[in-house]
Amino acid sequence: MEKTALRLAFQTPLDGRLKEEYNSLLQASRQHLQEIQEKRCLGADFLGWYTLPNELEREIASVQTIAQTLVNYDAVVVIGIGGSYLGALALAEALEEQKEGMQPELIFLGFSLCADYMANQLARLKEKNYAVVVISKSGTTTEPAIAFRLILAALKQSANGYSPERIVAITDAKRGTLHDLAEREGIRRLVIPDNVGGRYSALTPVGLLPLAIAGYDIVALVEGAKAAFGALQTADPNTNLAMQYAAWRNLWYKEGRSLEVLAMYSPYMRSFGEWYKQLYGESEGKNGGGVFPTSVCNTTDLHSLGQFLQEGTSLFFETHLFFEKANHSLSVMQLDGIADGLEYLVGKDLHEINRAAAQATAAAHEAHAIPTAFLHVPLRNAYWLGYLLYFCELSCALTVLLQGNNPFDQPGVERYKKNMFHLLGKPGF
Ligand code: PA5
Repeated sequence: MEKTALRLAFQTPLDGRLKEEYNSLLQASRQHLQEIQEKRCLGADFLGWYTLPNELEREIASVQTIAQTLVNYDAVVVIGIGGSYLGALALAEALEEQKEGMQPELIFLGFSLCADYMANQLARLKEKNYAVVVISKSGTTTEPAIAFRLILAALKQSANGYSPERIVAITDAKRGTLHDLAEREGIRRLVIPDNVGGRYSALTPVGLLPLAIAGYDIVALVEGAKAAFGALQTADPNTNLAMQYAAWRNLWYKEGRSLEVLAMYSPYMRSFGEWYKQLYGESEGKNGGGVFPTSVCNTTDLHSLGQFLQEGTSLFFETHLFFEKANHSLSVMQLDGIADGLEYLVGKDLHEINRAAAQATAAAHEAHAIPTAFLHVPLRNAYWLGYLLYFCELSCALTVLLQGNNPFDQPGVERYKKNMFHLLGKPGF
């Protein structure tokens, strides 16, 4: 069996009516892939992410040039919310121990309005000489705008002082408050392409710049995404895993399962779960429909949500994301003189024990009639995270197109903003 490729395995057998339904969804997703390729799907103005991995050579060079100018700071404050920070956060955490050099620490802000959190972060920053990367496609989102103002004020009062050289703004090419402010202040700007929406922007400067500053291998990340783009262009449903995953998700959705649990088996992947939830949740939850995505990190969460997932309301299907290999080998050793009851594990690798936990969980859930699939990722490294990220983006787009919705807009997000602006007395609301 090929172990150096992403693999998707449906544990729950599909036969009879389910198989037929699955095959027809597979054919429909094939048509939607063609629509994406011919730029005529719903939301076609936002398809920039589709070919992005192949178009990043110049972008990587300019991101790396800017990153080099910021590597001598103690920390880099990355300000953004939603798609403007979750990709960088997810990848930074997923690859945490793999960054190179003594690069600045990344401190994410602008994703919350919690006064205590903000005050404590500002206090922490007083001790540091830091640069700022402020990210907002629209350039007008309240949370990052407030955080940016607080940071600018803090810089002005600090011993190091405010200077535009320590700031980079990533925003729209032509418009928005952040764009205009950056231009007036002489702050360097990088662009989020018009045709790439926030949650599909991890491979633009939005994700690449923070990661490059902090010493992550963005070249390998993009190489992985490029390989995924190459592999997932095929119209052959038997080999296109993104089509298969989209069809499988919709199959169980149609069978009445309106919640997906993405189960991962590494604490490094917790924020990847946040990114996944935003990608699918904001893309899919429309017109009264869609699958509600959630995530767990096992085996940790088997001791919190495990009981519910095993025996509670059975309204979900489950995808287990497992890395085929670990980066470290750690076997359970002989422990002479202390009887801890683990003799049966002596010589077993911790990763194999983790795999047994994943297989055991899937089997227990399947026995409870919960549809399960495994996404086998070869290794937790930049290349395979890039691959996985692109796989998720394409399968998400196909999933939502199968539901007849636009995968790239988020009209519902505006509703709370209008109410909040009204409550706060913003002119015009
Ligand atoms: O995916 C999206 O489009 C959203 O989650 C946005 O990324 C988020 O609302 C932040 O928007 P902006 O980058 O305009 O500040």
